Amino acid sequence: MNTKDSIDYLAKPENIDKVVLLYSGGLDTSCMVKWIQEEYDADVVTLTIDLGQPGVDLEDVKQKALDLGAVEAYVVDAKKEFGEDYIAKAVKANADYQGYPLSTAIARYLKCEKAVEIAHREDADAVAHGATGKGNDQVRFEAGILSIDPDIKLLAPVREWSMTRDKEIEYAEEHGIDVEVEKDSPYSTDENLWGKSSECGPLEEPDKEPPGDVFQFVNTPEEASEEPEYVEIKFEKGVPVALDGEKMMVHELVDKLNSIAGEHGVGIIDMMEDRVVGLKSREVYECPAAVTLLEAHEHLENYCSTKHENQIKKFVDQKWAEMAYSGLWFDPLIDHLNEFIDSMNQNVTGTVKMKLYKGKAQVVGRESENALYNHQLASYDEGETFNQEASPGFIQLWSLQTKLINEQVNGDALGN
Ligand code: ARG
Repeated sequence: MNTKDSIDYLAKPENIDKVVLLYSGGLDTSCMVKWIQEEYDADVVTLTIDLGQPGVDLEDVKQKALDLGAVEAYVVDAKKEFGEDYIAKAVKANADYQGYPLSTAIARYLKCEKAVEIAHREDADAVAHGATGKGNDQVRFEAGILSIDPDIKLLAPVREWSMTRDKEIEYAEEHGIDVEVEKDSPYSTDENLWGKSSECGPLEEPDKEPPGDVFQFVNTPEEASEEPEYVEIKFEKGVPVALDGEKMMVHELVDKLNSIAGEHGVGIIDMMEDRVVGLKSREVYECPAAVTLLEAHEHLENYCSTKHENQIKKFVDQKWAEMAYSGLWFDPLIDHLNEFIDSMNQNVTGTVKMKLYKGKAQVVGRESENALYNHQLASYDEGETFNQEASPGFIQLWSLQTKLINEQVNGDALGN
């Protein structure tokens, strides 16, 4: 490995015969199918991964890729894997980067794994992605893919071709790429089961409220029902396993909860985010299931763990989120943190009752065999077992050093 300055980071990769392109079917990646063929004279294999993004017909996407000249078009349903291996980890880690549940971020690493797998199967030299040069996704894709296979070449056409949006639409029209939908939406979005992110267009004016047309996963609180709705989420070792008593796989539970909580306007996040590349950007998220599950999980975890465990868990979670956000998912530190996180979650089994109402998901009830709450100890009613007579002695010792230092200071002040 060589990171010396003599490397020309802008040099065009050479001798590329076959490229695996992470393909969504949208404007950018559709232009890429053509552009890579023209620019690199290479075969393009597209890879489209189903992570539960709504409203996309994956068979259409596949056909579109083939129509644009892809030599092969893979469609992989990875919803179950996303639920079990990514969302479950995020829940256990109370995934939160500055208030963002990392919905786009964690999905990128699954895409990295699948892209390398297909590249090996197809004997391709390179992987291409549709991320720009200003965001986090380029960092995740490239750091992620190179951590799995350092010999794969990377293409980031959007970063390379420097086309404005109008030029891109022109390019698409010249190459027979359908752009109708794209022309209408001013937003740049990314969706999966864990949430939807929106950037650009009117959202670039941070002083203005997001226009209602941003929201697809959720009702606004104004549109939401006047009646609250309650859901019960069962966790086993920190993983959500049942909704209202019905056992489900993580991805099914998240899907169902997205529609229930989304109806009530839960999961809207409007924030300024610090990107890895130094920019602050205005992001709007719709993450109904994520917000509900993370609130419920953290609550249950606190309920079942000691104060000391909970204090350290916050630091561990924060570091986990920082790594997951910033492209370092395949760093061994993440594995070490996951071991701690799993170990703490051994006890996190129980049920949390959530009230969904007008944009809020609130814990209103909790039960667990592992709870450290003890009614007889905590109660002020008859039959309590807490020995209040022990308290004065405890306070004597607890405050020993504080009393001593104050005695000294006061003594000095009085000239003793
Ligand atoms: N800011 C988010 C992240 O870095 C979302 C980026 C998703 N891209 C988009 N085109 N909306 O994870």
